Amino acid sequence: MLVIVNETYDTMSAEAARIVADRLRKKPDLVLGLATGSTPLGLYRELIRLHKEEGLDFSKVTTFNLDEYVGLPPEHDQSFHYFMRENLFKHINVDPRFIHIPQGMAKDLSAFCDWYEQRIVDCGGVDIQILGIGVNGHIAFNEPGSSLGSRTRIKTLTGTTRQDNARFFKNLDEVPKYALTMGVGTIMDAKELLLLATNASKAAAVRSAVEGPVTAMCPASIIQMHRNAFVLLDKESAAELTGTYNDTWEHKIFTSGNHPHG
Ligand code: PGA
Repeated sequence: MLVIVNETYDTMSAEAARIVADRLRKKPDLVLGLATGSTPLGLYRELIRLHKEEGLDFSKVTTFNLDEYVGLPPEHDQSFHYFMRENLFKHINVDPRFIHIPQGMAKDLSAFCDWYEQRIVDCGGVDIQILGIGVNGHIAFNEPGSSLGSRTRIKTLTGTTRQDNARFFKNLDEVPKYALTMGVGTIMDAKELLLLATNASKAAAVRSAVEGPVTAMCPASIIQMHRNAFVLLDKESAAELTGTYNDTWEHKIFTSGNHPHG
């Protein structure tokens, strides 16, 4: 696990984009795992800039998103389909046929989840998975208590998560109660993980994830078990860490091939 503490959200986002762009240049048909939420917006803005100004090419990339609400149509402005279209896909040259986002409107949700798992395998597995972290330590919609071996499935959202997301809806009642989400085990199968966190509100969750025990009560703590995980933070989200990080970052990424040697 390579923890990198950045001065600001913007420098964190630029570092994250540098890693993704590096992987994409080395492997044009990269399988890219994507996340929604406010945290990766800076990373997406920077990828868009790299596409527009430096010709970063997404035409052969396959994407898999982590999760989607159940019951929101793709046109709904709070659906993750909408989020991805507005904040990334419509600005880059990704082929729509290669985009995968869980279908929260599928008639048979559990059959869809099985298909999604198989589709990831059939595409060769996720090369690099972008992750946010919830204030309660969730990754994707894997809330505390989620099996650390879980696969893509339907999950009931906790009160905390629904309240966190209520600001995006007219009221709490409108926030969906269920979501489809890759499981913790699905996420762990990615060849590399790139977990991003910003803001003092995430400091306790970051500490539990990075320095706490590995426990289903903080699903993000499973990253400690991943061989190739980056944790990119700004100063505020890193404020509760007690370890020493950062010293050899510049040296590591460009001398150790594809792996942070975690
Ligand atoms: P945020 O959400 O990026 O909007 O803070 C992260 C998450 O809940 O996984």
